Amino acid sequence: MEFSQRILNTPSSFIRNILKVTDSPNVISFAGGLPNPISFPVEKLRESVNRAIDENGTKLFQYSTTSGYAPLRQYIADKYNRQYDLDITADDIIITTGSQQALTLLGQVLVNEGDGIIIEEPGYLGAIQAFMLAQPTFYPVTLEQDGLNIQELKQACEKPNAKFIYTVPNFQNPTGLTYTQEKRDAVYDVLKNYPDIVLIEDDPYGELRFEGTSLSYIGGKRLPNSVILGSFSKTVAPGMRMGFIISKNKELMNHVETAKQAADLHTNIFSQYVLYDYLTHNEYGEHVAKIIALYKEQSTAMLQALEKYMPPTITWTKPEGGMFVWMTLPAGTSALDLFSEAMKADVAFVPGDPFYTGKQNVPTLRLNYTSSTPEVIEEGVKRLASIFNK
Ligand SMILES: Cc1ncc(COP(=O)(O)O)c(C=O)c1O
Repeated sequence: MEFSQRILNTPSSFIRNILKVTDSPNVISFAGGLPNPISFPVEKLRESVNRAIDENGTKLFQYSTTSGYAPLRQYIADKYNRQYDLDITADDIIITTGSQQALTLLGQVLVNEGDGIIIEEPGYLGAIQAFMLAQPTFYPVTLEQDGLNIQELKQACEKPNAKFIYTVPNFQNPTGLTYTQEKRDAVYDVLKNYPDIVLIEDDPYGELRFEGTSLSYIGGKRLPNSVILGSFSKTVAPGMRMGFIISKNKELMNHVETAKQAADLHTNIFSQYVLYDYLTHNEYGEHVAKIIALYKEQSTAMLQALEKYMPPTITWTKPEGGMFVWMTLPAGTSALDLFSEAMKADVAFVPGDPFYTGKQNVPTLRLNYTSSTPEVIEEGVKRLASIFNK
């Protein structure tokens, strides 16, 4: 059997492979990236399943439209117009099988083999994987404390084959970093000169802000070709696979719809009815506030433990929301090499390598704090520090 170059070039998920070794009860794992299951509103969802079936019967089990359940799209449009001062309608939204599917679809719709994708470095590895299927050329742009490096962004935009730029402006995966308003404006000032380069703002964590105030999107109303991706994975339940893509560019959305039709006809309609019922019968804001309080406690525990135990040669980000802390070891250190040492001490993290499109043995790593209690977090950081202190 011979396989396509497309799949042969696409790495299998490094994190899933790592999770196989870290999945033992003795291991304190900061390697995962899962929402804390205690945040899933299981009982309320049970009520919604029953109510949605009682009220809609076989519609939950029948084939449905590719763009998604209209009331759910309207709910999202209203929410985003209110929260982010956008002017979108339900027709500017397609419900996707997680925001992950939106990444694959956009890669398929916009990129020919060899075309350029501008991406944050480090960047979300699931996006790198999804885009790899389109066999692109990546143009990485350094992600600094306050957002993209503007000089590098300008150079990347000058590449004649650059098709889109992929960003995670809030509590980025893997770094936890958030673009400041000034940086958002500076990125906009560059991109407004390149109307053919589509801006993708992937924002699954934006609602999980435990410090500071919510900022507007880089594109929003001012860049008509921009795309926002959203997800209920981090605020309701990831297993429902409820994501969405928003854009006012009709041509782009028509092509995305065709690609989605080819991929899976439509997103699970059972989940869409249940989610819509859940959102319209519960205080979603109060539910999200509980998740924020939980993650704030966990991130505080991690930051305090890092402060207490880590040597001064090591630095890390201080997230204002989301699920991750990004650590930088002294130059020349390979986080990958330290991974096996850490596993001997029963503590796990994700070495930085898979978050880069062209670098290896980097001195950076990702820590996730949402899956452990504050006490376990402190113990895990202590173990890590004992290795890094060597
Ligand atoms: C930045 C980013 N985008 C997209 C996703 C995919 O989320 P989902 O497909 O569950 O909506 C994730 C998941 O971790 C993520 O971190």
